[in-house]
Amino acid sequence: MRSRIVRRTPLLLVVGLAALIIPLVTFAEDPWNQKTNFIRDSIKNGRADNVIFFLGDGMGDSEITIARNYHVGADGRLSLDKLPLTGEVTTYAVQESNPALPEYVTDSAASGTSWATGVKTSNGRISTTASTDQDLTTILELAQQRGLRTGDVSTAELTDATPAVLASHVNARGCQGPADMSACLQDKKSAGGPGSIAEQEVDHHVDVLLGGGKQRFDQLIDGGPYAGKTVIESAMLQGYQVVTTTEQLADVHSSKKVLGLFNKGNMSLNWSGALAQPYPGSGPQRCLEDQRPANEPSLADMTRKAISLLENKRGFFLQVEGASIDKQDHAANPCGQIGETIAFDEAVKVGLEYQKTHPRTLVIVTADHGHTSQIIEAPTSSTQPGAFSTLITADNANMVVSYASAPVGQSQSHTGTEVRVAAQGPGAANVVGIINQTDLFAIMRHQMKLDSDSR
Ligand code: CO
Ligand code: CO
Repeated sequence: MRSRIVRRTPLLLVVGLAALIIPLVTFAEDPWNQKTNFIRDSIKNGRADNVIFFLGDGMGDSEITIARNYHVGADGRLSLDKLPLTGEVTTYAVQESNPALPEYVTDSAASGTSWATGVKTSNGRISTTASTDQDLTTILELAQQRGLRTGDVSTAELTDATPAVLASHVNARGCQGPADMSACLQDKKSAGGPGSIAEQEVDHHVDVLLGGGKQRFDQLIDGGPYAGKTVIESAMLQGYQVVTTTEQLADVHSSKKVLGLFNKGNMSLNWSGALAQPYPGSGPQRCLEDQRPANEPSLADMTRKAISLLENKRGFFLQVEGASIDKQDHAANPCGQIGETIAFDEAVKVGLEYQKTHPRTLVIVTADHGHTSQIIEAPTSSTQPGAFSTLITADNANMVVSYASAPVGQSQSHTGTEVRVAAQGPGAANVVGIINQTDLFAIMRHQMKLDSDSR
């Protein structure tokens, strides 16, 4: 009995001293505590004067991982990996004939309508309701009503689905220019309608419109006060300065509205390489970088310029789309897809740097739907379906990417998976967990105080 107490005393002393010392050591050095503190510091719920909404088209978790592995290695981190708070977004659309039923695989138009208006619609619709074809108010329109400046930037044609959903309302996404209206006859200006997507974007007086799609804006308007003029001419008559090259964009300094059209179609790709092929696939290959012609600005250039033009006391809403991640996923072009993901990531970096010095800016980074590309084991049989390419990554290791959601040579299909959302700035914590795409509209509206009179 006695000897036991004697043995115990030094042990108690040691435990007691350790209890005093260990917490000091732990708080100073434990990376997990650092992470907890970083996340805690990131949870601010003040008003967002500005929202910058980054959308990687078709940028599912798989597309992000492929780009990360290739460009910075499996243990590297992209800029879009560095936002402190992440969640997952469900992306389903609804059926046109019965909007009570989900359409599990969305397109960019229905998905865009969902995050831009808070209402689900059917595939192909631009900010109009499924089945009943009613116009839906967009986050950009709400921002304009409260006197915020607005911008809409894309590497696709400006009339493509994602930029379209913010500043136009039409039943079919193909109605991009006044000569493309066969599926939307009731919306033609000559029929007393609001016109094509190109006409509506200009008539909406969005302050900064930058992207491709000049061919749509070169078409002739067929009704209303600008009948017989091109959409570009109508833009100039409505106070826009129109630019078509990197140099001209750099020279824009006034707060006058700007319409930048840098390609007749989609903007040029940043990278190139061999398309995926049936077994055994293309490669092993390294991609050719820096392929974009210098007269077309990068997405990062456009983002930087848009922010500088939009900045003002009342605040701004800016959408930035990396569009051709999706388009090159459709084309089973791994280098094209990765190059567009990296270009998008460089634009995100510009937004995050601005957020650091302008903390009342909410930055959101997300995607509209998943896509086909998958990292798989090397195929071993010619009977394996799909197209493949082996890429030599930054790790100096082989990565096999497969495209198998449609027959080889046909446009690959979107997928119905949930996708990442990440955020930084006021209200960023609201994206955490599993949320619906429609919640993104509600979060932006709430953080910009567009849902109350308090602004
Ligand atoms: Co899309
Ligand atoms: Co697509």
